Amino acid sequence: MKSIIALSAILSTGLAATIPSNAHSQIHKRAPVCSFEDHTFNDKNAWTTTSDVSKRDLGQTTWNPPSNLVTPLKQVWDHEIKTYSNPLGFKNYGYDQVIDGKGKINYCVRWEGTATVTAAQRAKVETAIRRQFSKWIAILAGFEKFPYKTVDVNVVGWAVKNKSQLQGDTSGIQVYTTTDSEGIPECDPKCGRFFHQNNDYSQCAAGEARHYDQSLWLTPGFEGGAGGDWGQRVGQDYFMQNLDTDNIHIVLHELGHTFALDDFYDWTPTGVTNFIMLAGSAMEITEFDAWMARDWWRNLKSRYNL
Ligand SMILES: *[C@@H]1O[C@H](CO)[C@@H](O)[C@H](O)[C@H]1NC(C)=O
Repeated sequence: MKSIIALSAILSTGLAATIPSNAHSQIHKRAPVCSFEDHTFNDKNAWTTTSDVSKRDLGQTTWNPPSNLVTPLKQVWDHEIKTYSNPLGFKNYGYDQVIDGKGKINYCVRWEGTATVTAAQRAKVETAIRRQFSKWIAILAGFEKFPYKTVDVNVVGWAVKNKSQLQGDTSGIQVYTTTDSEGIPECDPKCGRFFHQNNDYSQCAAGEARHYDQSLWLTPGFEGGAGGDWGQRVGQDYFMQNLDTDNIHIVLHELGHTFALDDFYDWTPTGVTNFIMLAGSAMEITEFDAWMARDWWRNLKSRYNL
């Protein structure tokens, strides 16, 4: 399978037929294991190197990448346009969600397994995902009319097997104990952006304010990660052990997929060797990652009233 599979969602839903078999929203109706295996085949062994290069000169506010990045950026863009289906027509990239949300992004956590979570841990999970999301926003801020310096990221819900796993005060969150068709805790699809890309949450019992744009899916024993327009999935142990880590690099990589970026398992652009989307080659968003994301933004921005 192609590297692009890493973008695929692993949601079980009846929407598969209505969404193009698209890298950013691809879903496998009742067959999540397929994309899961394909994905981890790719990502699983990818996080072994620790080389870290992130020379950044991101003060530019227009498309003016450093000369050494011009060729590889063009290669990446051409490759994405060639291999994604409907790359410029797809409307649920992270950019779309940030704009539609007017600078506010809601998360729901899918907490797999039987571990308990304290209120303090939940607060840290929220801070951690907010910090990661903000790192992508930071490299877009002020560039080509990207309108937000920061994005207000909040965790509005948790899905667990048993409510008793959530210790302490849960009044500030929506608690779900429903599951997807695989029996995995799932936040109500009626409240999810992935399922309601027209932003109509009138059927969301939790109320529109607690709709969620992104899922943070934490799975015990999960290696590597998966990411797409629906959210990010990483190992629960990995995430919880890295709550205080500034750059939770697998999450940053998966968030890159949310923002339309590709994997590089089968090829690499000329002259760049360390960047977050080349899994395992960098521990933080690099200058090259930033310009790849900026390339998307500059090519999508005409769809917004900026
Ligand atoms: C949830 O966990 C509690 C405490 O362990 C238990 O008493 C209860 O039966 C569980 N509920 C369900 C639906 O499994």
